[in-house]
Amino acid sequence: MVINRVTADGYKNLEGIDIELDPKMNIICGENAQGKTNLVEAVWLCSGCRSFRGTRDKDFIGFVKDAAKVGMDFTDSVRKQRIEFEVRRGSVKDKIVTLNGVKLPLLSKLFGCFRCVVFTPEDLNLIKGSPDNRRSFADLSIAQIKPSYVSALNKYNMILAQRNAALKSVGRDGSGAEFLDVWNEQLIKAGTYISVLRYAFCITLNNYTKPLYSSITNGIEDMDIYYQSTVFEKFDGRLNNTEELEDEYAEKLKASAENDLRAGFTTVGVHRDDIGAYINGLSVREFGSQGQARSAALAMKLAHAKILKAEQGEYPVMLLDDVLSELDEKRRRFILNNIEDMQVIITCCDEKSVTDMASGKIFRMEKGRTDIFDN
Ligand SMILES: Nc1ncnc2c1ncn2[C@@H]1O[C@H](COP(=O)(O)OP(=O)(O)O)[C@@H](O)[C@H]1O
Ligand SMILES: [Mg+2]
Repeated sequence: MVINRVTADGYKNLEGIDIELDPKMNIICGENAQGKTNLVEAVWLCSGCRSFRGTRDKDFIGFVKDAAKVGMDFTDSVRKQRIEFEVRRGSVKDKIVTLNGVKLPLLSKLFGCFRCVVFTPEDLNLIKGSPDNRRSFADLSIAQIKPSYVSALNKYNMILAQRNAALKSVGRDGSGAEFLDVWNEQLIKAGTYISVLRYAFCITLNNYTKPLYSSITNGIEDMDIYYQSTVFEKFDGRLNNTEELEDEYAEKLKASAENDLRAGFTTVGVHRDDIGAYINGLSVREFGSQGQARSAALAMKLAHAKILKAEQGEYPVMLLDDVLSELDEKRRRFILNNIEDMQVIITCCDEKSVTDMASGKIFRMEKGRTDIFDN
């Protein structure tokens, strides 16, 4: 997947951006707060995902602007495509989103059409951070491969919210607890489906992260990734036996009913799962050094891109926002070696930190505008 051209105007501080990208390496350099991440974010939104910075739609629009407009031409393995979106002040809900000129109701409908992987300094905390970071990582990766996963997740979350509300309304004497069963059945179905896909994904992820991590450490350290389900102890040989898994899920929910009632929320289920990373048999989250945790996160992010390539036949575009400056020379070199076959957009403050390692186009970002940088 290759982005040919990006335009952005009124998106946060971006003004009159119209750049043709290099099919391989693109470096956007500039001082802090000039708009580098805003540009990366605008590109990211074209993948149909929510902002990785948590920006809400109304805040897409520049402070003194009436509308945020973003456009992108990209080429996938089949054809050239065009994405455009516009958010207008006063009618934020009525975004204008088009794919090849055809109107779409929501930005999220772009999901699966243009694919990219973003890597920011926060992602370096993937391992040390809380489980929801790792769940989101797995969920996004799976959804990019299997779009039906998104509806299962949405369904699960919706039922979970209803079940939790029901748990809170059960009286001290247990009155009303019988209504929980109404939610259990659907929760079990969606939850089992999610568990099975996450389990399979973690096996694939492990197959990719293992050699990557080993190569970062020159073969000295060995990394393993496991899916840590709060519902199932074992999946081996049972992946196709949905009925057996669903029965087990039901038992688990039943066994935790008392706990759930006391807590006022659902204490077991896929919303509590985790992905465990181990180095030489020890949990990186608990015992790993900062450096090990960063290398493990790096291996997972690169694995994500490689899995997309294996599943879909083409690499996603890699967005490296400020991440290289956070890494030492060895890990920087490691990333650059592993993304050689992808189109990459790298942002940094000091282009010298990357130009001696990578060639390609360099853009300078200043106050939301870009110039091509003559080097
Ligand atoms: N809605 C907005 N309208 C205008 N400017 C904005 C908006 N949101 C953020 N900004 C500005 O964007 C700048 C930060 O851009 P950013 O892309 O994070 O910079 P960096 O180059 O450091 O990555 C800040 O100056 C901030 O004030
Ligand atoms: Mg930035």
